[in-house]
Amino acid sequence: MTKVDVLLGLQWGDEGKGKVVDVLSQDYDIVARFQGGANAGHTLEIDGDKHILHLIPSGIFHENKINIIGNGVIIDPYILRKEIISLRHKKIDASRNLYLSKKAHLILPSHRLLDAAYEFSKGNLKIGSTLKGIGPAYTDKTARNGIRLGEIFYSGFYDLYKALKDQHMRIISMLDWDYKGFQLDGVPYEEYESQWFESTEMLKHFRIIDGEYFINQCLNENKTILAEGAQGTMLDVEFGTYPYVTSSNTVCAGVCTGLGVAPGRVGKVFGIAKAYCTRVGSGPFPTELNDPTGERMRMKGNEYGSTTGRPRRCGWLDLVALRYAIMLNGVTGLIMTKADVLSGFKLLKICTRYRRNNEVTDVFPYGIQHENFTPVYEELNGWEQELQSLGSYEEAPQAFKEYVKFIEEEVRVPFIQISTGADRKQIFKIRQVL
Ligand code: GDP
Ligand code: IMO
Ligand code: MG
Repeated sequence: MTKVDVLLGLQWGDEGKGKVVDVLSQDYDIVARFQGGANAGHTLEIDGDKHILHLIPSGIFHENKINIIGNGVIIDPYILRKEIISLRHKKIDASRNLYLSKKAHLILPSHRLLDAAYEFSKGNLKIGSTLKGIGPAYTDKTARNGIRLGEIFYSGFYDLYKALKDQHMRIISMLDWDYKGFQLDGVPYEEYESQWFESTEMLKHFRIIDGEYFINQCLNENKTILAEGAQGTMLDVEFGTYPYVTSSNTVCAGVCTGLGVAPGRVGKVFGIAKAYCTRVGSGPFPTELNDPTGERMRMKGNEYGSTTGRPRRCGWLDLVALRYAIMLNGVTGLIMTKADVLSGFKLLKICTRYRRNNEVTDVFPYGIQHENFTPVYEELNGWEQELQSLGSYEEAPQAFKEYVKFIEEEVRVPFIQISTGADRKQIFKIRQVL
């Protein structure tokens, strides 16, 4: 019996999941998203051509792989249609191999308005949401007000839609936020709404399935499945830097509820981390560098959000957060991305502990947003050589190998792959997949 392997982010998102899933999916029959929505932006570079996926799993560029949007994902039909159309321009016909779970909830245009209204009402305490409607749609799901994709086939769909939209509008008027003139992805609300309905019509021609049965059947037939995480562990609603998090379970446990697989059917867990850290949006980030070094990382790593274009905050690698993420997910193999970005830094720092007053801790602290925790750093030598065109790990500079070894010894999980550029070819295996 096969198991579902998982690839997920160990930091604050944007670790390079899209790129690595594209590479790993060669070895799988199926790639499945299990949580999040179009707040994700997963970038793939294939022969110099760049693609950003928001909802569609990153296995879509492999013609013969099935790609599933699982029940734990929330779908904005408008954005999904746009994505399907943009793939069509690249000669990828998603209708052949994209499957959608009936139980995935829908993001209504008014969820997006509500997202903006809540952010507005929070003032300085805003989360820095991508404004894709994620928080309000997951809220409606757990409050049992949500609408699932499968409803589009039933006659009461429009009434459900109208009742929920009216409720949203009542809340928005209470929040005293004037949405007139507010555009959704540059489109006026009414137009967005009308295209949203057209999109639900289009989706009727896709394979809308009982995802949980389908996936378990595939496992029984020994098909191989890779679950693709969105966001990152430090944005998990339960364990991340709450309230500066997203609204889903980004950790491995989310695979079970987000696809309908039992815990015993989860196999390898690949955890992906950049060679340093980034974060987009508000919230604690202990190793953040608000200085020329951070700016240099942003420039060299081209650290601008794939979904919103916002500059990403940059900082040194944080092993307190990384150990925590490895523990929560049961990571069996690590993957490092953006190793190339650190070439040319004379000295590199890695945070191994936090200090608060006279106390030093290796626990990711509950009160991180209230109290001042400063990172305790180890310093390592940098390397000059560019890594982008490295043919194998053996050719890498010694200082880089020391950097890798230092992390492995600190977190006690080995690296299995290292990525040294955005293109799908710029990655090498350093160990057998564990
Ligand atoms: P995701 O959300 O985890 O899929 O990551 P994003 O796509 O939002 O951000 C990662 C960015 O880094 C994208 O622009 C990728 O093309 C790029 N990228 C991925 N791996 C590497 C790498 O090893 N080196 C460099 N320089 N860029 C990379
Ligand atoms: P991928 O899958 C980085 C951040 C937002 C904000 C917070 C809540 O590309 O790694 P939300 O829209 O979910 O209400 O935003 O989470 N965020 C991400 N940051 N990568 C992502 O996805 C993110 N998805 C959400 O910036 O701080
Ligand atoms: Mg991203």
